[in-house]
Parts: sequence; structure tokens; C-alpha cells
Amino acid sequence: MSHHGLRHLIETLERTHAWRDPARLRERVEALDALELHMPEGLPPGEGDASPDTLALHARGRALRAGMEAVNEALYRSIRQEIRQGNGADVLRRWAHGATGPARRVQGDGYDYLDALVSGVLPFELPEAEVAELPAEMVFYQPTPARHVFDLLERLALGEGDVLVDLGAGLGVVPLLVAACTGARGVGIEYEAAYVDGARRCVEALGLTRAMFVQQDARVADLSEGTVFYLYTPFTGTILRSVLDALRRQAERRAIRVCSYGPCTPVIAREPWLEAGEPPVADRIAVFRSR
Ligand SMILES: C[S@@+](CC[C@H](N)C(=O)[O-])C[C@H]1O[C@@H](n2cnc3c(N)ncnc32)[C@H](O)[C@@H]1O
Repeated sequence: MSHHGLRHLIETLERTHAWRDPARLRERVEALDALELHMPEGLPPGEGDASPDTLALHARGRALRAGMEAVNEALYRSIRQEIRQGNGADVLRRWAHGATGPARRVQGDGYDYLDALVSGVLPFELPEAEVAELPAEMVFYQPTPARHVFDLLERLALGEGDVLVDLGAGLGVVPLLVAACTGARGVGIEYEAAYVDGARRCVEALGLTRAMFVQQDARVADLSEGTVFYLYTPFTGTILRSVLDALRRQAERRAIRVCSYGPCTPVIAREPWLEAGEPPVADRIAVFRSR
């Protein structure tokens, strides 16, 4: 965005006030992204290099940013309160529907305002500094875009008897949303202890007692309670092979579903003991069931 573009954005935001409506999260997140792009936080223009006009414009931009963040914080607080009172399913579903609409445009791997909502509502403390480098074949943490998780939960129609196990759960977004939005239980298996601590803090803060996290290598995890397993390409090669073999042994005892996102999907699609639950759609979570 040019200086002119930034001025136009700031003047529009100052004039319209529509962004003050808590329901206008999408507009606020998009405006915050645009402001961030042009005036990165923590980097005010150097006093010497910038004109008084630019400095004044940036001060107005910062005031708008603070105003929008305050509205977001109040919104996230109210949603947290609803989750604690057991109304999380209704509230989160309303937001998820607003995002995907009747056309259900859930494809694409980018993040959007639903991710801002989820990371704002779930009180994570990002443990960046404490996270060690992972061994070979283990894939670093990256959350599934929230609209894909909501889309999956709707397609799975989990019941009270279901247990969704996220293999390589990271900070636990998927099991936490299972517990907040459905009657099922969510279990996260995660190698990195700092992520498990973060997820457990969320369980406590939000009273999401149907979510549980285990610090473990997925290769040695007890999979016997799971009815649905989720993998957002957490590992590759021999680790993926060993976990798929363990899932096949579970499927010999009971019907299970396996859901996957990202590059591990073609590998899982070739497993002869699984069949696609529905025709695969590129860049959407795939759902398989055991034969
Ligand atoms: C791409 S992230 C997916 C995170 C989460 N499932 C989600 O969708 O939001 C992969 C995660 O798997 C974890 N991981 C990698 N290898 C693992 C293993 N052998 N056992 C358990 N977790 C593992 C990583 O630490 C990372 O947090």
C-alpha cells in the first residue's frame, strides 16, 4: 500500500466507525493486516527520516489499531465466557457459518479472520523460546486453518460416544474445538512438551474437560479409545508408516475414520484398508473410513 493508500485507509476507518461493531471481525482483521503491512508494529518511522505528516498519520494509524484490538479483545472475552458456560457450540458455529456461508468456500491453505478469532479466544501462551528442533521426519507446528476444522466437525457429526484423536496436536486447536463445539471427546497426542503445557492451560482456562493432551511420540500412543483420527501431516516416511500400521491394527477391531490434511493425504489414500468417505476435494480435509 502506498502512503496515499494508507492515508485513504486511515481516513475511511476514522469516518465510518462500522468496525466498532463486534460482529465486524472480518473487516477489523483485514484492516489490521493492512495497517500492519504498511506500518509494522514496533517499528515507528525514524524521527529523522519521516516527515511530520507521516509521523502524524502513523500516530492516527496506531490509535485506530489500538481501538480495533480493544473491540476484538472484548469480543474474545465474551466468547470465552460463553464457552465456559457451555454455549461454545452455538457461538462458534454461528461464526463458522458466517465465514463459509452457503457456498462453503473452505478451500485454500491461507489463514483468515476465523484463525484470528480462534487464537484470540483460546488463551495460548506461545512457548516459542522453549521449543526444541524436532528429529528427522517430524514436521514442525503449524495449525490447521480454523475454517477447515469447523468444516470437518460439521461433516463428521461427532456424537457423545466419539473420541477424536489428533496425532501431532501442536497447541491443541483441533481437540479443543472438538470439546467446545461437539459432545465428543478430543485427545491430542503431541511430542513437544511446551505445546502440551499450552493446550492444558487452555483446557483449564475454558473448562473444556472433554479435551485431554498427552505428551508422547505418536508411534507409542495408546490408540484404543479413538473413533476418529486426525493427521495434519505431522510426520513423514517411516514414522507415518509405523503410525498407519498401528491405525490399521485398530481398524481390525472396530470401524474407525481417519482424516487428513496436507501432503500426507495421498499416502493415506493409498492404504488398502481405508476408503474415501466422500470424493476427495483438493485442499480440503479428506475423510476416510476403514473397510
Ligand atoms: C503440522 S503440525 C499439526 C498441528 C495440529 N494437528 C493442527 O492441525 O493444528 C504437526 C505437529 O505434529 C507434532 N509431531 C511431529 N512428530 C510427532 C510425533 N512423532 N509424535 C507426536 N507429535 C509429533 C509436531 O510437534 C507438530 O506440533
